[in-house]
Amino acid sequence: MCGIVGYIGYREAWPIVLKGLKRLEYRGYDSAGIALINPDGLHLYKKAGKVQELENFAEGKDQSGTIGMGHTRWATHGEPSDRNSHPHTSNDGKLTIIHNGIIENYATLKEELLSRGHIFNSDTDTEVLIHLVEEIYKKENTDLLEAVRLALHQVSGAYAIVIMDNDHPDQLIAARKGSPMVIGVGTGEYFIASDATPIIEYTKNVIYLNDNEIAFLKRDELLIKRLDNIIQTPYIQELELKLEMLEKGGYEHFMLKEIFEQSRSIRDCMRGRIYPNEGRVQLGGIKEYADKLKNIDRIIIVACGTSWHAGLVGEYLIEEYARIPVEVEYASEFRYRNPIITEKDVVIAISQSGETADTMAAIEMAKEKGATIFGVCNVVGASIPRLTHAGVYTHAGPEIGVASTKAFTAQVTVLTLMAFYMAQQKGTLTQAKLVELLTELDCIPEKITKALASNELIKEIAHKFKDSRNCLFLGRGSGFPVALEGALKLKEISYIHAEGYPAAEMKHGPIALIDEEMPVVVIATKNSSYEKVISNIQEVKARKGIVLAIVTEGDTEVRKMADYCIEIPDSSEAFLPLLATIPLQLLSYHIALLRGCNVDQPRNLAKSVTVE
Ligand code: F6R
Repeated sequence: MCGIVGYIGYREAWPIVLKGLKRLEYRGYDSAGIALINPDGLHLYKKAGKVQELENFAEGKDQSGTIGMGHTRWATHGEPSDRNSHPHTSNDGKLTIIHNGIIENYATLKEELLSRGHIFNSDTDTEVLIHLVEEIYKKENTDLLEAVRLALHQVSGAYAIVIMDNDHPDQLIAARKGSPMVIGVGTGEYFIASDATPIIEYTKNVIYLNDNEIAFLKRDELLIKRLDNIIQTPYIQELELKLEMLEKGGYEHFMLKEIFEQSRSIRDCMRGRIYPNEGRVQLGGIKEYADKLKNIDRIIIVACGTSWHAGLVGEYLIEEYARIPVEVEYASEFRYRNPIITEKDVVIAISQSGETADTMAAIEMAKEKGATIFGVCNVVGASIPRLTHAGVYTHAGPEIGVASTKAFTAQVTVLTLMAFYMAQQKGTLTQAKLVELLTELDCIPEKITKALASNELIKEIAHKFKDSRNCLFLGRGSGFPVALEGALKLKEISYIHAEGYPAAEMKHGPIALIDEEMPVVVIATKNSSYEKVISNIQEVKARKGIVLAIVTEGDTEVRKMADYCIEIPDSSEAFLPLLATIPLQLLSYHIALLRGCNVDQPRNLAKSVTVE
């Protein structure tokens, strides 16, 4: 949540920072701002709305300067407005700050600062922090680095910050705790950003700043120390990211591109991990724990949103194949209970961004209680993979559309691999069965390409559903999490109220909603609960509901009853979630588009939820 970009070097900072903000806009898009220093002093431009509005606002104004920073905001404290947009300045206007995160004790600090005569120009927690730095800077008669370090000792909460000093236009100070920050290392220049996407165009060499670290950057100097004043040796890594991964590649929206990327992303996720002929799965990231997996009591999966839905699929697969009991928990609930966790538990934390605050807090709690923590993350080098004991990356590539699509199917793929890997360690599946399952899994990318071929049909069906006010999604077994995910996709990008239910639960309440205006999307593929789902469809039709069924190709039974059918290739129940999700993603996409919604940046949402 909130994207930050900073630059110090020999090039003009404005275009670098502006482009960086556009790349980070998925993190928050309710307001934006840029500050630059040039020989005429500080230039600060802030605007409510998207980065484009900031660009329009600053057109023709002084944009020169080789040091600058910018921010794209997802409001927490204070409504989205020009005055609450970052950067914020100190009382004397000399220090400027951008901030991603939350200063939890800002109210107390603000009261104290107000009593000492500080005047605030915004309702944000961030402005409090820069006033605090200013006060220490002046009072302690020290350098800015030390003043920032001392100020950070007084704040609680999460932050990734960058600070500029008008009196020292040759330096930037950056620090992080709980919010991500990457430093790009060039020759005679440095870049700072919330993730590597604004940096990749200029350098592949990056340093991921750790929690409680503070960086002092000059054009040809970098010093990193911990908040306890101990100097650190920076670890420079090479990025694997490619620029074209960040472009729309001819698609109208990132979401559509990412939906269509799924045969590739699932293939990438399986690469080097499955050996179908041998009936073997290899997961290098958790291999040190192979023996432990033979004796664990249970698995607890923690995640939020779409990742939680992937967790439900994981529960189904791990219990079915590895015969290990699984509990799936919302990270936000789990962290505030007092769950019983022992050293024999394995916790799997699932997160696309690897930065979700609730998931991070759940990991920390489970770690303290002695559990082994595995991560399933997409963003390489993010906070969660660094917090966990071991893990398996999903390798879906950058997901820019705010609604998760390819990250979900990659998470499900990793959990499928984990289930088979655990079964392999525990001996709960025969070699022959593993050969059979892995051979089928190996063909899933081609089946996804086939499922995507229904795009035109789905576009037509979307016209019929676009004016609906509600929508019900039903599924059984591994189709239930698919129904939940279908409902979440529809509501988050089209703003149609949608609910996912286990199909058999419909008669315990939701059936009351069904009338001739109610669309009901049913996962009705040919698997163990096929006959039962047919009965559920009949129950809907008897009440005049409109049924859209996701069916196995060649199906004739459901076709007799349903108003609309979308076919997906035949598969075992284990792989149903990977295939049945595809038409539901396309359905939401086309409905949202027809309703004129911003598909890639739905209102009120942000890609990476770094606040609880
Ligand atoms: C929905 C969506 C969110 C995320 C959730 C968790 O499309 O993207 O529900 O799944 O905010 O985010 P991560 O996976 O980054 O922890």
